[in-house]
Amino acid sequence: MKWLCSLSLLTALTLHPALADNTQLPSPDLPRDAYVNALLQKMTLEEKIGQLRLISVGPENPKEAIREMIKNGQVGAIFNTVTRQDIRKMQDQAMQLPRLKIPLFFAYDIVHGQRTIFPISLGLASSWNLDAVATSGRIAAFEGSEDGLNMTWAPMVDVTRDPRWGRVSEGLGEDTFLTAEIGRALVQSIQGKNPGERHALMTSVKHFALYGAVEGGRDYNTVDMSPQRMFQDYMPPYKAALDAGSGGVMVALNTVNGIPATADSWLLKDVLRKQWHFSGITISDHGAIKELIKHGVASSPIEAVKIALNAGINMSMSDEYFIRYLPQLVKSGDVSQQEIDEAVRHVLNVKYDMGLFRDPYSHLGPVGSDPQDTNAESRLHRDAARQVARQSLVLLKNRLHTLPLKKQGTIAVVGPLADSQRDIMGSWSAAGRPGQTVTLLQGMRNAAGNKATIVYARGANITDHKDMLAYLNSYDRAVQNDSRAPRAMIDEAVKAARNADVIVAAVGESQGMAHEASSRTNITIPDSQRALIDALKATGKPLVLVLMNGRPLALVREDQQADAMLETWFSGTEGGNAIADVLFGDYNPSGKLPMSFPRSVGQIPIYYNHLPTGRPYLADKPDKYTSHYYDEANGPLYPFGFGLSYTTFSVSAPTLSSPTLRRGGSITVSVTLTNTGDRDGDTVAQLYVHDVAASSSRPVKELKGFQKVFLKAGETKTVAFKLDADALKFYDQQMRFAAEPGEFEVMVGLDSARVKTTRFTLL
Ligand code: BGC
Repeated sequence: MKWLCSLSLLTALTLHPALADNTQLPSPDLPRDAYVNALLQKMTLEEKIGQLRLISVGPENPKEAIREMIKNGQVGAIFNTVTRQDIRKMQDQAMQLPRLKIPLFFAYDIVHGQRTIFPISLGLASSWNLDAVATSGRIAAFEGSEDGLNMTWAPMVDVTRDPRWGRVSEGLGEDTFLTAEIGRALVQSIQGKNPGERHALMTSVKHFALYGAVEGGRDYNTVDMSPQRMFQDYMPPYKAALDAGSGGVMVALNTVNGIPATADSWLLKDVLRKQWHFSGITISDHGAIKELIKHGVASSPIEAVKIALNAGINMSMSDEYFIRYLPQLVKSGDVSQQEIDEAVRHVLNVKYDMGLFRDPYSHLGPVGSDPQDTNAESRLHRDAARQVARQSLVLLKNRLHTLPLKKQGTIAVVGPLADSQRDIMGSWSAAGRPGQTVTLLQGMRNAAGNKATIVYARGANITDHKDMLAYLNSYDRAVQNDSRAPRAMIDEAVKAARNADVIVAAVGESQGMAHEASSRTNITIPDSQRALIDALKATGKPLVLVLMNGRPLALVREDQQADAMLETWFSGTEGGNAIADVLFGDYNPSGKLPMSFPRSVGQIPIYYNHLPTGRPYLADKPDKYTSHYYDEANGPLYPFGFGLSYTTFSVSAPTLSSPTLRRGGSITVSVTLTNTGDRDGDTVAQLYVHDVAASSSRPVKELKGFQKVFLKAGETKTVAFKLDADALKFYDQQMRFAAEPGEFEVMVGLDSARVKTTRFTLL
């Protein structure tokens, strides 16, 4: 027996030269599977568990403490450190381990830019322009990889229909198709041809799954959903982003039909691995494993670890439980060696794909090459940021051509957001520096030069509500209030307004009001700012509201007061210049809303692709016993897909290449688009379909295509969409995914509410 053992060991050594030295990494020339298998065979259980830990640099884990953990082989990856100098020190530490020198990977929340901040994701989605989105993705990856990073916690593709949820700012809106298209474009642009490229990052699509559907829009809350809605409306963007090759997926903090996603083997194994064939890494969200106890599905920390790992979590973000409990769990057999190996395999696979085994310093470059000043102006990509930001701005109202403004006379720029360098960056602004952003005031001054006089008054604080202010400042002094009395600030602004030809007021939310853990029950503009708007309105001067906010707001009152309204979201480093470009007409606005704007919170959830009811409300024939609220006008204030331009466009009724469509086939839907105004401009042609009669009730319309089209003044173009029969598929009551024969409406419009319709038959 003894002899047999040593013989088999001998054979193993002869057959696998990679195993000859148990302290050395295998040759990086091996193909991935062979490499990772060989490496796994050399690893001790402790080394394996170390690889499953993702540690955040922060007050709980200062850099020095983390370096100790690295020395002990207890870390697989790091996040929240963003300079090459810091990253290099940590990687050096891993490279000095006495045994296997497995490189660390470094991650960060690069959601809409790293050093150059692009518009928040909701703003990017408002561009309806995949090239603009890809530009932002490529530059974010360039800057992130130049900082030594390997992975980003993005894109966030949680479909959401609830603007109370603060994280709508990070997402791409309410629509499945638009979110999927943009999510895919982000993965492709951030990862490049492969995430191992010098200027690519690996993406980690989040938050899997359904985080955008938290009940009541309250962050971290429950999600409960029918399988049909889940797979029809909420899952496709994750799938699209993963199919585009995302190497990672971040698991959501919420429950899905009673089971926390972190504990849900159906979600993480059956759907993700078996049905979708995802081969990358799953990462739990911050502290999510501990939270299984609070969710009430684990009675102790050790049970939480057992459940999470067995459910399919590979890497644990920011909790110390894996290291504490996995050894015991393996010993007792509650977690099998095979489960551990599977999880570690995924970590090693992504490290291989990032090119780290070939060169642990691949994103760091040689010693001495680190930038002296990580915030150097030369490291920014301002032109691209401005181009993209311009496209994200949505003109909501423009009475009597108030806009564009002339570069002459006096313009009063007021409002608490007009000169805030921090707020304009929006949520998750990565390594962006407020000092480098261009505010609206600065942008207006840059654009006006000496042609017009710009006067400024702050006019109001973001909020004077003490508790809200304390909340917004609970982690750092994010919102700094002016100590003057509200009346004094308003008086100053009114005085400035009276002496001006036009007022431009920047109002809305602070950066932290639309963020993680920033749910609101009231989505109006805060009272302090409303009082300012009232006073400005009373001057009788033309009033332009520049909205800065990270969610759809309820704006019925402001819509009545303003002469013009421009939704600018949080537009990033070059936001002020981009907004000024639009206000002065140097760029003709072309953005379209990716989310419906409700009239009031009571209408939520409100989304364009709802099902019909048996008693639809008809505006031209109102009737009591129809589906509506009797204390509010029906429908949104601004519908999905809406946005004005300084020119006007007309769109013809769609024509079809054939009145019938065969399964597996496609038809072409064409419209004639004309710029009927006197300015060049872009608009977005939007294609919707409706299944007239099916085995289940189908949405009144669903987006199936869009094209952003540039038209010179007076120009006409034909816009053609290819509509595949596959796009008509849906999940029926038995969860069969199929298109059912019969009549379909096909609609084209420049927003979701005003469309022109024709019909075809699916054979
Ligand atoms: C968020 C994630 C984020 C992570 C790391 C969590 O609280 O939910 O979206 O990527 O923190 O910063």
